[in-house]
Amino acid sequence: MQITNDILYVGVNDHKVDLFEGQYVVPNGMAYNSYVIRDEKTAVMDTVDAGFTKEWLDNIAAVLGDAKPDYLVVQHMEPDHAANIENFMKVYPETTIVANTKTFGMMKNFFRDMDLEGRTLEVGNGESLTLGKHVLTFVFAPMVHWPEVMVTYDSTDKVLFSADGFGKFGALDVEEDWDCEARRYYIGIVGKYGPQVQKLLKAAATLDIQIICPLHGPVLTENLGHYLEKYDIWSSYKVESEGVVIAYSSVYGNTKKAVEVLAQKLEEKGCPKVTVFDLARDDMAEAVADAFRYGKLVLASVTYNADIFPFMKFYIDHLTERNYQNRTIGLIENGSWAPNAAKVMASKFEKSKNITWLDTTVKIMSSLSDENIEELDKMAEELCK
Ligand SMILES: Cc1cc2nc3c(=O)[nH]c(=O)nc-3n(C[C@H](O)[C@H](O)[C@H](O)COP(=O)(O)O)c2cc1C
Repeated sequence: MQITNDILYVGVNDHKVDLFEGQYVVPNGMAYNSYVIRDEKTAVMDTVDAGFTKEWLDNIAAVLGDAKPDYLVVQHMEPDHAANIENFMKVYPETTIVANTKTFGMMKNFFRDMDLEGRTLEVGNGESLTLGKHVLTFVFAPMVHWPEVMVTYDSTDKVLFSADGFGKFGALDVEEDWDCEARRYYIGIVGKYGPQVQKLLKAAATLDIQIICPLHGPVLTENLGHYLEKYDIWSSYKVESEGVVIAYSSVYGNTKKAVEVLAQKLEEKGCPKVTVFDLARDDMAEAVADAFRYGKLVLASVTYNADIFPFMKFYIDHLTERNYQNRTIGLIENGSWAPNAAKVMASKFEKSKNITWLDTTVKIMSSLSDENIEELDKMAEELCK
């Protein structure tokens, strides 16, 4: 795939992966992107996952012909991008690896037997490398979402090689909406590091960027304002769209019934968007991403050994670890003798910033009472305000 006259795609699609990064379901697979920049000097931008060594090296050879790559630029050491550094250096021993101090530190730990002597070019933040007519400038992006990450700007073709930034789940041979799978990827993997992403966006705003080449997902060539706006919203923890997420944990079905009643009331009252997640059965990453997408969240849990149900605990931990903030939350609890799930759930948000609590909390004793139905109605009223 040709991206510009001199920049070519040499990445691979992975339809074998069952869980990306050990936890994310990827029904449409995953892409590990890599690029070749052809100039007086040739640079390869990152490697790919360990499962695709031959395919990736074949892609490079097909693009290079008899030429040999002068540089391998390593922007990020996560193994889905860096696993083939040593294999690449065996095939192209004359190549110089371009990376920063932290990256080389990590490289030594990942590849203990690789001899890097005389084969490295260490770059600093803001430094440039001239390939010929292309000049690459390296911009460090620490903790987006690993400490060694840097992105690379090619001022000739006005291309930003954005490392994991602007990536998404899904292989490139599957057509799908960018926003949903990019949001699930961003919130799940990078969501904790909003301030660091904001810093990178500010640096990016000073550059004339026409094309974004991420390490996952499609190369972005049009309507870049859309993607930049999404990243600005996500990284500043702003509400992306109006709507209510209801996430629940139920053992015998009574809490689930309360959720169904609430969802129906919200619909009747014309609430713009309602999404419901059974935390034991639905995709946790989607439930987490939607909590960040919408402005309002209702958590409904059974009381479980004087605590909350494990999936709910896990869910709230996912939210608070990612700096969940600037949202409205309502609580529904259920118990057969001493319900205290609401208190436990609320306490888990003690350190979260700018949380507005609904006035109505619904306390169910085993099954829905008439009073509970009225409370759910009040809760729906508050959510629809
Ligand atoms: C293992 C286990 C532990 C529970 N612990 C408590 C508890 O500490 N306090 C309480 O009031 N109810 C407790 N319950 C009861 C449930 O919270 C209660 O039956 C609730 O109504 C179940 O709601 P559901 O129909 O949505 O599953 C426990 C239930 C189970 C299965």
